[in-house]
Amino acid sequence: MAGLFITMEGSDGAGKTTQIEKLKDYLSNKGYDIILCREPGGTIISEEIRKVILNKDFTEMGYMTELLLYASARAQLVEQVIRPALREDKVVICDRFVDSSAVYQGVARGLGVDLVYEVNRYAIGDTFPDITILLDISGEMGIKRKKNQGELDRMELEEAAFHDKVSAGYRILAEKFPDRIKKIDATNKIDEIHDQIIAAITELIQGK
Ligand code: TYD
Repeated sequence: MAGLFITMEGSDGAGKTTQIEKLKDYLSNKGYDIILCREPGGTIISEEIRKVILNKDFTEMGYMTELLLYASARAQLVEQVIRPALREDKVVICDRFVDSSAVYQGVARGLGVDLVYEVNRYAIGDTFPDITILLDISGEMGIKRKKNQGELDRMELEEAAFHDKVSAGYRILAEKFPDRIKKIDATNKIDEIHDQIIAAITELIQGK
């Protein structure tokens, strides 16, 4: 198997972290070598860019600046972590990737999905996910879950309409890329969601 690149997507509060941990344990037990990463972040430089992006004081940040900062953090992560790992036949599980930009900056900020993928082409080249798990949840319910977990960052503090656009944007993307993006109802029980994720990934591995 020539490496496997899995991305996990969803609105804030969809439960990605829990599912990534469970998926990592499952695949590790099967003997796969796993690399976990998150966006924005995952390298020293990308984590520094993350601090700028999510800083609550930077209310004046322009949408294009935001898009390019996410793409910069991603470019460094791809070059330093993801590409080398895939070259060594590892399984990379990334918490968010280019689809987050397509939805948050492209749809919710209104920059346009095509423009976002075009800009990101420079950041990621041909390093595209083999499979993307979308944990589908309404914007309202996701943010309610996040609020119960603690303080909100600059993106999470956006108004309800923004989070609704994010959630709707993900559904549009799942329709646009039905072969790659597997949409799973994030309001189901944790173990049920996990089983659905495993089923999708097993199917992919067997077909590889
Ligand atoms: P994070 O705390 O990692 O959120 P989560 O745990 O929900 O993944 O913060 C990342 C925030 O940045 C989140 O609100 C989504 C947003 N984001 C974008 O707007 N564009 C992007 O390209 C990425 C990767 C994230």
